[in-house]
Amino acid sequence: MHMCGIMGYVGPKQAAEVLLGGLKRLEYRGYDSAGIALEDEGSIYLRRKAGALRVLEEVLAESPPPPSHIGIGHTRWATHGGVSDRNAHPHTDCKGENAIVHNGIIENADELRAELLNAGHVLRSETDSELVAHLLETGPADLRVRLSEVARRCEGAYALLVMDVHQPDRLVAVRRTSPIAIGATENEAYVASGAIALAPWLSECIYLDDGEIADIRPGKIEVFRLEDLEPIAKTLHPIEGDGELPDAGEHGTFYRKELMEQPIAWRRVMAGRLDDVGQVNLRDDGIDQEFLRSVERIVFLAMGSSLHACQMAVERLAEVVHLPAQAELASEFRDTRTFLEPGTLAIAVSQSGETIDTLAALRHARDLGAKVLSLVNAPASTIARESDYVLDLRAGFEISVASTKAFTTQVIALELLTAALAQARACPLPPTDLHALRAVPTVAEDFLAAFHLPKELIETCAQAPGVIFLGRGQDLSLAREGSLKLKELSYVWSEAFAAGELKHGPLALVDQRVPVIVCVTDPRHAVKLRSSLAEATARGAYGVAVGSKLGATLQVTLPLKERIGAYLLGALPLQLLAVEVAEARGCPIDQPRNLAKSVTVE
Ligand code: AGP
Repeated sequence: MHMCGIMGYVGPKQAAEVLLGGLKRLEYRGYDSAGIALEDEGSIYLRRKAGALRVLEEVLAESPPPPSHIGIGHTRWATHGGVSDRNAHPHTDCKGENAIVHNGIIENADELRAELLNAGHVLRSETDSELVAHLLETGPADLRVRLSEVARRCEGAYALLVMDVHQPDRLVAVRRTSPIAIGATENEAYVASGAIALAPWLSECIYLDDGEIADIRPGKIEVFRLEDLEPIAKTLHPIEGDGELPDAGEHGTFYRKELMEQPIAWRRVMAGRLDDVGQVNLRDDGIDQEFLRSVERIVFLAMGSSLHACQMAVERLAEVVHLPAQAELASEFRDTRTFLEPGTLAIAVSQSGETIDTLAALRHARDLGAKVLSLVNAPASTIARESDYVLDLRAGFEISVASTKAFTTQVIALELLTAALAQARACPLPPTDLHALRAVPTVAEDFLAAFHLPKELIETCAQAPGVIFLGRGQDLSLAREGSLKLKELSYVWSEAFAAGELKHGPLALVDQRVPVIVCVTDPRHAVKLRSSLAEATARGAYGVAVGSKLGATLQVTLPLKERIGAYLLGALPLQLLAVEVAEARGCPIDQPRNLAKSVTVE
């Protein structure tokens, strides 16, 4: 899991300090326990604690770890086995000679566990990960060869980082699906599950691809194919950021900061791609006219908020380019699709570029013969590396687990792609739409500066047994996004429905305690949505309309009427509603319970 964090170090510095520094930078991804293992004069020093990294730091401050120049660390997001000290990583073998940290899930764990127990191993945790440490107890002396044999026996998705006290100058890492970044200076080496953890010490790194194993020594990284241990040449990628940990500053939380930063991110995603006369140009992204004309059909693959951005794009493509498109939940796609029509372009949309469901769907689409374009906020991510074309979202680091600026920049990037497809096919977008796109950052800044949600609505939502969001057409995707934000942040149960569905069942849920929020950024649906809202308010619901006037208890009027402009502005009050309800209920904002920033476990 990128949901877990991995950090490793070998070199002259005090390993414990480097490990904690790296893990701190991975904290935002979400985790529930943390631990480190160091080589200590021929044995393993191990400290693991359930809870925040801070808890582990306090333990280490009270009784400082031994000086050591090699170690591995981990922040765990529980899958197999509850949240406890003994289930936290690193794990060691019976003899305490090998230590391992693991991200992912070992699917044949039951079988391996039975085999190890039969052979007399003593297992001390409920995790699938510990099994790897025990499997490393036997086999060839060389750690790389030994790990390669163990890794070949493990089914599922994983990133593993291991150390052996008898080989204190090296770490070995192997990857199947879960990310690993590695970098070195002249006399040291660093490993992490995300390059952001390496930024204080390195400016470039390599990324392991699936089926690769790395031998990591001070100043020297060698990568081999797991299959036959043949050496592989790797490319160095720049690491973004200056090593400074981002700071939420006056906003208090990253969610609020990222929400307020959206106009800046929107300008960045458009820069150089949309000119003053309304011409869209994606040539610098490697997307030319010939390619744009060759697309006959589009399948979007994404999860969560990214999927909602795709659902909006489907509406726009149908309307503007008359191009058949569908947005598929990536996790379902590979089990349901056995063929793709020739000329299909698969578009994978992912903030992190590491979401396993989206990655698996992308690979499936490739196997079915499609070309793949990805929209990611991390151009060196696995999804980007495995795509034919990449559009960088340029949203900047998104730290909050609940997405704001990545979602809206996805909407803009997809609108730019729609416009580019339209222009290449001589069916251009109405000029007002492109005008709205250019105007929207400035309009949004003014809107955000002046906008306030009434206390009454926040309190009603905070106490509600549920909140219903409604929409039609493009507004159905906006309703889904509003509902997702609210449930992620505030833990208030909520659901989005196509307004037409209301009378077919969901209306039974509505009474005076259930707010109904209607998204209406496409005025063509205003008449029908007015009726849906009236049906809910007639039953006592607190009605909110975002967009066109519907006669709601609370009317949120948006200062742009063009569909794309109104949609982007309409996302802002929904994002604000979610955080304000969450704050009223005392929920943690940046790291909601049970969630992780990038979901790398199926
Ligand atoms: C958004 O608020 C969520 N945290 C989540 O649904 C997210 O959008 C989803 O997991 C997809 O992530 P990705 O964009 O990194 O692939």
